[in-house]
Amino acid sequence: HPSLTVRRALLVSAPGDSPGDPAADPPGQPLPVESRPFASYGSALHIGLPRAPRAGQLLTVEIDYEAGEGPGVCWLAPEQTAGKQKPYMYTQGQAVLNRSFFPCFDTPSVKCTYSASVQVPEGFTAVMSATSWEKQKDNTFVFKMSQPIPSYLIALAVGDIVSADVGPRSRVWAEPCLIEAARKEYDGVIEEFLAVGEKLFGPYVWGRYDILIMPPSFPFGGMENPCLTFVTPCLLAGDRSLVDVIIHEISHSWFGNLVTNATWGEFWLNEGFTMYAQRRISTEIYGLAYTCLEAATGRALLRQHMDNTGEDHPLNKLRVVIEPGFSLFPGVNPDDTYNETPYEKGFCFVSYLAHLVGDQSKFDAFLQAYVNRFKFQSITADDTLGFFLEYFPELKEKGVDTTPGFEFDRWLNMPGWPPYLPDLSPGEQLMKPAEELAELWAADGLNMEAIEAVDITAWRTYQLVYFLDQVLQKSPLPAGNVERLSKMYPKISKAQNAELRLRWCQIVLKNNLEAEYSKVKDFLHSQGKQKYTLPLYRAMWGGSEAARALAMESFSATAPQLHVNVQNYVKKILGLEVAE
Ligand code: BES
Ligand code: ZN
Repeated sequence: HPSLTVRRALLVSAPGDSPGDPAADPPGQPLPVESRPFASYGSALHIGLPRAPRAGQLLTVEIDYEAGEGPGVCWLAPEQTAGKQKPYMYTQGQAVLNRSFFPCFDTPSVKCTYSASVQVPEGFTAVMSATSWEKQKDNTFVFKMSQPIPSYLIALAVGDIVSADVGPRSRVWAEPCLIEAARKEYDGVIEEFLAVGEKLFGPYVWGRYDILIMPPSFPFGGMENPCLTFVTPCLLAGDRSLVDVIIHEISHSWFGNLVTNATWGEFWLNEGFTMYAQRRISTEIYGLAYTCLEAATGRALLRQHMDNTGEDHPLNKLRVVIEPGFSLFPGVNPDDTYNETPYEKGFCFVSYLAHLVGDQSKFDAFLQAYVNRFKFQSITADDTLGFFLEYFPELKEKGVDTTPGFEFDRWLNMPGWPPYLPDLSPGEQLMKPAEELAELWAADGLNMEAIEAVDITAWRTYQLVYFLDQVLQKSPLPAGNVERLSKMYPKISKAQNAELRLRWCQIVLKNNLEAEYSKVKDFLHSQGKQKYTLPLYRAMWGGSEAARALAMESFSATAPQLHVNVQNYVKKILGLEVAE
């Protein structure tokens, strides 16, 4: 990556020769280093060897380099942290950003172990995605990841952070001002998620499962760095209502971190299987009704996404063509392809496979066998589906992979709405009241008696989310309705919960409720998650003059806080120049 300065490369152990070979190349000799064009998001590092190694031969090269202001390494000023006292740094590797952190084979098809020694100033603590760590003298932290992982899962954070135990193999890390909230949110709940995951998918191989609460500008809900999930502070809702994100990241311990997509074009192998695993764990713990409700909000996100892009958009295939990029063509940056399809269409495809099998416990056993078969490897969908048909020969015999309308090839290579949707009707008892209430609020001339008869005080967060998604779909509502809704439900319009705030802001914008624009502004100032930020800027930019002005004003005030990728995506939405 251009932000990485490679100073020199040394040959540590010579190619070609057994120890004591008189013809061995002397170790320690400097090697010629050259950077050659590859893609807009990185270049190829060429290192010359004194002679060609034999096939399969191991050699060790030491590279001396310095990382700077790259997209994978985020340097935050004190004002950008929760405590606002000390600076902070963290790395975010997925998908192709770690090449600006250290020189690497930055592809998910290559796995390796790693170790790192990190010296930090007094008063700071370093944490990494590692199976073991130790603090040594001079504020030096030594880390070791003893399982092979792809480059995108190597992660580091340094800040004024402290920890608290929340389970037998889990602790939370956070800035001191958030540690108590983090401990309360997760104390005593993580172990059950891990235990159910192990029961369903096999051993948890990573040793510890810890959580790091990130600064507010962290661009994701969660990032499954092994042993140490990074999460947005927005998850600290105070009532554990957003733990589905933690269950999701835990699910990556099997799907993604053990069995890994070999290319970013098959990202659905990571995320689709993880969504399925997340909902299996959720079903075991919270029951089918609640899990179907959560899945329905996921389906609504897929609907919104496909409505925005058009169903036939090439990104709405599970297998996406990502040009590798070479000198004349910059290539497609896999990070720019991020959307709901690999998650929710991927979930539908895995659910379809389960539906073909017909028996949940048989499909669970298949998933466990799949993890066991491909653990520590990187694979393609062909490997997955080949193994599926091998595991269920009776299905192979029946030709389930070529059933007209449901061909595996169609699932993978055709854009569009999923040909099969899992049945979410077990969630109806929770969804129906929300749908009916949304109907009432969308009517011309409100039936206040009927509305007041519905008591939402006991509704779960995802029931409110589902209700708000319905209201959003029906928006703009007849004049005056949203104002009344806002007054009637301060629990929604004044919510602190990030998922509710997002929906409320979307409703405010779609209904042009200028009186509440300040809530959009406050929300955008309070956090920088990509999945919250981009839909709001899209809504503002597609709205009135006042909404566009709000977009410009919010962006100029918050841009320096946003992750550089998110900054660039917002710039694109606002039609601003994006620097290469
Ligand atoms: N691995 C992803 C986050 C990610 C994807 C980072 C692509 C960089 C590139 C993570 O597991 C994820 O999916 N997070 C979701 C959680 C949700 C689906 C429960 C998020 O951040 O919203
Ligand atoms: Zn994920």
